[in-house]
Amino acid sequence: MSRIVEADPASDVQDLAAALEDGALILFPDTPFEIRPEEQGLIDPAIFSGESKNVSYNPDTGKLGGVALEGEALETCRAMLARYADFARDLLTRTAPGYAPALQRKRTSFRPGEVAVRVLSPRKDDRLLHLDAFPANPVQGRRILRVFTNVHPQGRARHWRIGRQAFGEFARDFQPRLKAGPAPGLASIMSALKITKGRRTPYDHAMLQLHDLGKMDAAFQAATPSDEIMLPAGASWIVYTDSVLHAALAGQHAFEQTFLLPPEGMNDPAKAPVRILESMLNRKLV
Ligand code: SIN
Ligand code: FE
Repeated sequence: MSRIVEADPASDVQDLAAALEDGALILFPDTPFEIRPEEQGLIDPAIFSGESKNVSYNPDTGKLGGVALEGEALETCRAMLARYADFARDLLTRTAPGYAPALQRKRTSFRPGEVAVRVLSPRKDDRLLHLDAFPANPVQGRRILRVFTNVHPQGRARHWRIGRQAFGEFARDFQPRLKAGPAPGLASIMSALKITKGRRTPYDHAMLQLHDLGKMDAAFQAATPSDEIMLPAGASWIVYTDSVLHAALAGQHAFEQTFLLPPEGMNDPAKAPVRILESMLNRKLV
C-alpha cells in the first residue's frame, strides 16, 4: 500500500515532515475549506475563460487568471483564492512547522472541471501516473510540495492513483533513457525570451523528461504497482508531487496550493530528488 498517513485535524502542531519526505500523502479527512454563501456560484466550470485546466492565482501579486468574470464576481473569486492560499499555508505550517522559514508560496489554483472527461495529449494528461515538473517555471532543485482540498458541493470524492515506487527506483528504471541537457546556451535563450521564468537547470531538464517518459510509457502505466485512493469532499491532503507518483482519475471542484522548498529546508536534504539524481548520474544538476 502506498503510504497514506491520516493526520488529526484537531491537533495543533504535528511534525509530519519526515513522513512527507519518505513519500507519504498526509490526509486530513475532515479539514474543509469553507465556501462562503457569496462564493457558491463560483463553484462551477462555467467561470472558466477558455480551455485552461484551472483558475490560477498569484498570492504575491493578486493576479487571477483563467476566469471569464467581471466586476464583483471577479473580486469575490480573487478573495476566495486568496483565502485558500492562507488556509493552505496555515495547514502546512501546522503540519510541518520546521519548513516555515524556507517555504516559498507559489501559485494557487481552483479546479472546478471534471477530471475524468478531459481530452488531452498524453503529456498533459494528469490521469496518467507522473511526477510534477514545470516546463515554464524551473524549480532549480527546489521541492514541489502541494496542498489540495476537495470542495465538491455534493460530496463526491476525488479519485487518485498513487504509485508505490519510491523516486529513486522510478528514476533508476528510466535512467538509461535520460538525455543530458539542456543544450549549452539554450537555457539562457529560453530565459531571455521568457519562455521559462528563470533558467532551466539540468535538474529541471531531467525531471521534465521523467514526467514525459513515464506518461508516454504504456507498459509502465499498466504494470507499475499502485493503489487507487478516494479523497473525500471536505478533506485536505499534502504531498510532495515531485517524488510521489500520482494521477488524478476523476473528480471535480478542488483547490490546490503549490509551495517550493529548497532541499536545505527539509528535515533530510538527502531525500530531495535533486540529491538522489545527482548521486545516480554522478554530476551536478543545479
Ligand atoms: C495532478 O497534480 O496531477 C492533478 C491533481 C489533481 O488535480 O487532483
Ligand atoms: Fe501532478
